[in-house]
Amino acid sequence: MTVKLAQITDTHLLTDREATMRGVATWHSLHRVLDCVAERQPDALLLTGDLAHNGDPAAYDLLYELVAALQIPAYWLPGNHDRPAIAHDRLSRAPFVTGDRVELGDWNLILLDSTLATATYGEGAISVDQLQRLRTHLDNTDRPTAIALHHHPIPMAIDWLDTIGVTNAREFLDLLDQADQADPVDQQGQGEPAIDRATPSVNSAPARSAKNNPVKLVLFGHTHLEFAGDRHGIQFYGTPSTCTQVLREDATEIDTLPGFRWIELHPDGSHHSQVIRVPQTPTAPNVPLASAS
Ligand SMILES: [Fe+2]
Repeated sequence: MTVKLAQITDTHLLTDREATMRGVATWHSLHRVLDCVAERQPDALLLTGDLAHNGDPAAYDLLYELVAALQIPAYWLPGNHDRPAIAHDRLSRAPFVTGDRVELGDWNLILLDSTLATATYGEGAISVDQLQRLRTHLDNTDRPTAIALHHHPIPMAIDWLDTIGVTNAREFLDLLDQADQADPVDQQGQGEPAIDRATPSVNSAPARSAKNNPVKLVLFGHTHLEFAGDRHGIQFYGTPSTCTQVLREDATEIDTLPGFRWIELHPDGSHHSQVIRVPQTPTAPNVPLASAS
């Protein structure tokens, strides 16, 4: 059975529906995105952090209300703007699902908490405990696996943004490499992570084979921009925020729009993914290149 998954990220909700962040009414923006999501009738929703801009309980309540209307399971993890304890308290009932591993058809979805309590600028890390559990899981499954987390574990080629990603990304990427026992030739990357950035937003055929590696996808938020890259046959996807965007120097009009990622997980371990942009009000501004996410 193919599973249809919609990823929304960096909703940055505030305490009332009219409140704005960097000039954008984040509740209204999310509402329009979710209307578009609902039209496509996904089987499940994935929320990859920065759900509430300041971690206020009322913001999570507003999120709950909007997401519950879709009546599908909603898997979530926190971002650097969230307050995880409050989020867990307010999002602890259906359709929200709390956990670090779920089954989606023939696939597994692993949810990592990359938030770092001691972060200075919003950077993240994956704890030793989570890395160990991930290793154990990958050693004991042959089901295709998608991993979701908030922070980006590979470079985005934007200097300020790349200082606030996963600070121990090397350990995470090494673990993914070790999960592929099939072909030593595929084990490149002793230095910086090798990424083939793919401009097209549709990827269904990895450029390199990783057929014996259960990990097929790594999905993240935090960057507020679309990204698609291949590393050793694993697809890394960044997804636009449902409100404000980070713009590269070569950004075009469409890059300014909020959006979400549509992912179809096929039983044979292949997938299809694309970013869907959602036009907003004509006055919605966007984040300049040098801004926090
Ligand atoms: Fe964010």
